[in-house]
Amino acid sequence: MKTTHILSDGLQLPLIGFGTSGFRGAKAVQSISSALSAGYRLIDTAYNYENEGTVGAAIRQSSVPRDQILVSSKLPGRYHRYDLAINAIQESLYRTGLEYFDLYLIHWPNPQRNEYVEAWQALIDAKKFGLVREIGVSNFLPEHLDRLQADTGEFPAVNQVELHPTFSQVDQLDYDKRHGILTEAWSPLGGHGHNLLTLAPVLQLAEKYHKSPAQVILRWEVQLGVLPLPLSQNPTRQAENLDVFDFTLTANEVEAIVALDCSGGRVTDQDPKTHEEL
Ligand code: A2P
Repeated sequence: MKTTHILSDGLQLPLIGFGTSGFRGAKAVQSISSALSAGYRLIDTAYNYENEGTVGAAIRQSSVPRDQILVSSKLPGRYHRYDLAINAIQESLYRTGLEYFDLYLIHWPNPQRNEYVEAWQALIDAKKFGLVREIGVSNFLPEHLDRLQADTGEFPAVNQVELHPTFSQVDQLDYDKRHGILTEAWSPLGGHGHNLLTLAPVLQLAEKYHKSPAQVILRWEVQLGVLPLPLSQNPTRQAENLDVFDFTLTANEVEAIVALDCSGGRVTDQDPKTHEEL
C-alpha cells in the first residue's frame, strides 16, 4: 500500500491529516501541538475557522520543523473576486505567520454568486507568485469542476468534501479519481455528536480486527483512496486515529460500509448546489 498521496505537481501528502474546525485559543494551540507530536504532518485550517493564528502558534511551538509540516487553508466565499482573493491569501499568511501555504483551497463554490472561476484564477496565480505550493477546492461538485477546467484549463489537485459512512460520495469520488483529483474528507467520523461510531457493521468490524470504530472508519476511507482529516482534542484519540495501518478490510467489508450510505446521510444540511458560505 502506498504511504503518501503524490499530487500532479509532485507534492506529497500523508494518508491522514488533522482537521481544526472549531479549534481556537490557547487550548487549541496545545491540541494542535499534541497532534504534531503524535505524528500528524498535514494540518487543515480555513480563513473562516478564525484559527489560522492558532495554527501558526502551534507550528511555531512545535519541535517539528516547518518544512516537515504541510499547512492547508481555504478562501472564504466573500473574497472570490480576483483582487480580494489574492489579498485574502496574503492575509491568511499574515495570520499564520507563515511564508507560504502548502495547499490552499476555495472553501465553497457559492454558485449563486458565480465568482468561483475568478477565485480559481487567483489561486492559479497565487501558486505562480509562490504564496502557495499547491491549490485545490472544497465542496465542489462535478459541474463546478468541469467549469474550472473549461474556463482555465486546470483541474484542482484536491477536492475536500463531506465524506463518512452515511455519505460515502461514491460518484464524486469516481469523478475526482478519473480527473486526477485527490479527495479529502471533512467530518470523516461523522462530526461532533453524531453516532456513526455505533453503526452495527462498523462495530462488528471493530470487534473482528480489535480496533476502535473510529479506526475502522478511517481505515475504510484510506482504502477508498480518500485522505481523511479527523479532528480530536484528545491526545489518546489523536494517536488512535493515526494507528490504522496494521489491518486491512476486505473488499466486501469496504462495500458493506459503502452500503451504509443513505439519502439524508449528510451530517449537515450543506448541499454545495445551494449552500452559501461567505
Ligand atoms: P474529541 O475531540 O473529544 O476526540 P470528525 O473528525 O468527523 O469531525 O469528528 C470529530 C468528533 O469525533 C469530535 O467530537 C471528536 O471528539 C470525536 N472523535 C475523534 N476521534 C475519535 C475517536 N477515535 N473515538 C471517538 N470519538 C472521536
